[in-house]
Amino acid sequence: MLLKTTIPPLDCWRTAPTIDTLRSIYDSSAHQWHNNLARLGQLHDYQLLFESQAAHLSHLDQTSQILDCGVGTGAFSLALLESVDQPAHVSGVDISPTMLTHAQQILENRCTTLDLRWGDIRHLPFADESFDAVIFAHVLEHMADPIETLREFVRVLKPGAPLIGSVTRKGLGQVLMSLRWRNRGYAPNQLDSLLQAAGLEAVRSFDYGTGWSKWMCIATIGVKPIYKRLEFKVYAHSLGAQLKWKDSPTKQLRQTPTGGTDEL
Ligand SMILES: C[S@@+](CC[C@H](N)C(=O)[O-])C[C@H]1O[C@@H](n2cnc3c(N)ncnc32)[C@H](O)[C@@H]1O
Repeated sequence: MLLKTTIPPLDCWRTAPTIDTLRSIYDSSAHQWHNNLARLGQLHDYQLLFESQAAHLSHLDQTSQILDCGVGTGAFSLALLESVDQPAHVSGVDISPTMLTHAQQILENRCTTLDLRWGDIRHLPFADESFDAVIFAHVLEHMADPIETLREFVRVLKPGAPLIGSVTRKGLGQVLMSLRWRNRGYAPNQLDSLLQAAGLEAVRSFDYGTGWSKWMCIATIGVKPIYKRLEFKVYAHSLGAQLKWKDSPTKQLRQTPTGGTDEL
């Protein structure tokens, strides 16, 4: 597979919003957020997106761990759970406490367990390789350094597990939206490069949905490689063999009563 080494330039963005600015924007919109998504058909489109990625989600069951970064009111997680048609352990991180309060109400009866945390997705409060899938919708647009953020998502993914996201498409609609939401937009080739730079493979960015999302959004998916762990195992195995080989000449022998030798 050919990896692109150059990242296409992102928007000139000298005034990335601060966390406090974003928190107050989303706190004040939380009460109408879910209804607005339903009105725009985005709840349905999110579900179409996950249904189209069924092959990447077939490993999920009631014991699986899913993380939604920038969970908001929980719409993206809800769509995933409905598309796989069974509950799972869902964790979500968001900087807006009011969004999280709504997410708690919307998701609590749909999951095996629900763990919502108030925090910054650039520093996730989870151990490496904890999740069977990491998802994110419309939060990468707010990141000053999207590659660093994606690397943090990849850190907590188990090897072989998918990262699936939705972002705003770069264009006139996004420029108008950014006046309110302070978001930037991405082109599909930029997204592919960002996910590859974050260490994912089988990366693909594509259109999805039927209404609003079809014009305004791009989906993206990548899989965390498993070869690093395999490489380590092979290395550890051969290192063990070398140590054994090095050990053997240093073994001391002693004379047995019958005139033979055995190891000390
Ligand atoms: C556009 S909303 C999307 C919410 C949800 N994913 C959805 O699709 O409905 C973006 C969300 O990301 C959250 N957010 C923005 N920056 C964040 C950060 N650094 N860490 C955690 N959450 C963040 C906001 O509070 C908001 O809830």
